[in-house]
Amino acid sequence: MSKKILVTGGCGYIGSHTIVDLLENGFEVVSVDNNSRSNPRIMEGVEKITGKKVKNYKVDLCNFDDTYAIFQENEDISGIIHFAAYKAVGESVENPLMYFENNLVSLINLLKCVQEFQLPHFVFSSSCTVYGNPDEVPVTEKTPPKPAESPYGYTKQMGEQIINELFKSIPLHCILLRYFNPVGAHPSTLIGELPVGKPANLVPVITQTAIGKLPQMYVHGDDYPTRDGSCVRDYVHVSDIAHAHTLAIEYLVNNKNQFPCEVFNLGLGNGVTVLEAIKAFEKVSGLELNYTIGPRRPGDVIAIYADNNLARTKLGWSPNYSLEDMMLTAWKWEQKLKIDEKFYNGKFSQFN
Ligand code: WQD
Repeated sequence: MSKKILVTGGCGYIGSHTIVDLLENGFEVVSVDNNSRSNPRIMEGVEKITGKKVKNYKVDLCNFDDTYAIFQENEDISGIIHFAAYKAVGESVENPLMYFENNLVSLINLLKCVQEFQLPHFVFSSSCTVYGNPDEVPVTEKTPPKPAESPYGYTKQMGEQIINELFKSIPLHCILLRYFNPVGAHPSTLIGELPVGKPANLVPVITQTAIGKLPQMYVHGDDYPTRDGSCVRDYVHVSDIAHAHTLAIEYLVNNKNQFPCEVFNLGLGNGVTVLEAIKAFEKVSGLELNYTIGPRRPGDVIAIYADNNLARTKLGWSPNYSLEDMMLTAWKWEQKLKIDEKFYNGKFSQFN
């Protein structure tokens, strides 16, 4: 009997890729996603890749009663992977209360259900933003968090604290996965990132600029104390991130965890500057990108990349995709979106 996993934010970028990986590894999956920042049609791509249909509850996790009803209807849930949250650093600086309300109320409602239904396993989508501007890199899971650089980062820091406190008092086990910069698309080009409106993240901005959807793009500052002046990040393929979630759930259901709550960095361990990421894209696409050096973006961390040894040794995680693979799969997905423009922008006109 395959174990059923509830994936919140299942129609989202990392959520949909994780559902593919869970299904390919023998799990049963249900999704909950109110599609405020995602497109339900992505599930058609999941079905094409896996041959399996996934039920999505179109529910806002900020509505406790609606959330509770999902658990009443799925008493056989073995574990939860919680992705559903807003995640744009820049937007969170402009609209902090929207981020605190959405990201924390949804988490608390979910944890109330975890407690009530005594669910055994919980995987939380955390972020490298919990480290703030680290004094030294690479960061390990023991690197003390500094003040977050954005309200988004604070919602992840607070989320981890809420979970840590709860799991001290109830017999449930949890894993916090701290993503660095997830980018790229599934190698089938059947699912990928679907930014709502103008993208904030670097790679969709690059691919939309390359395909002509954006007239140009700005590099947010080249006067940072880094090797070429632009910010340093740790880009990691979304399919590698997805597989880490399957490994995390397997780690919990097989009772491999040593502590009630364990933390893992999910990054390649390579620091890549914005200008280097652009060069990698130009190399795989054969195009010259139209970019301009602009001012720094509020909330940006100067440099961060991961020490990922814990995920490698304890979860058995071994990321496969290179920076070029990330850029190539992202580019192929953008080209596919241009062909499928109507498919994603028809019925769900919010995607313009
Ligand atoms: C990366 C770099 C920008 C756009 C992301 C996720 C967040 C979290 C951490 C998981 C920065 C620069 C960007 C552009 C640019 N991940 N940039 N021009 O801010 O690191 O945060 O990773 O939880 O959810 O959003 O990612 O892609 O926005 O920026 O120069 O048009 O690219 O300044 O240095 P960020 P990003």
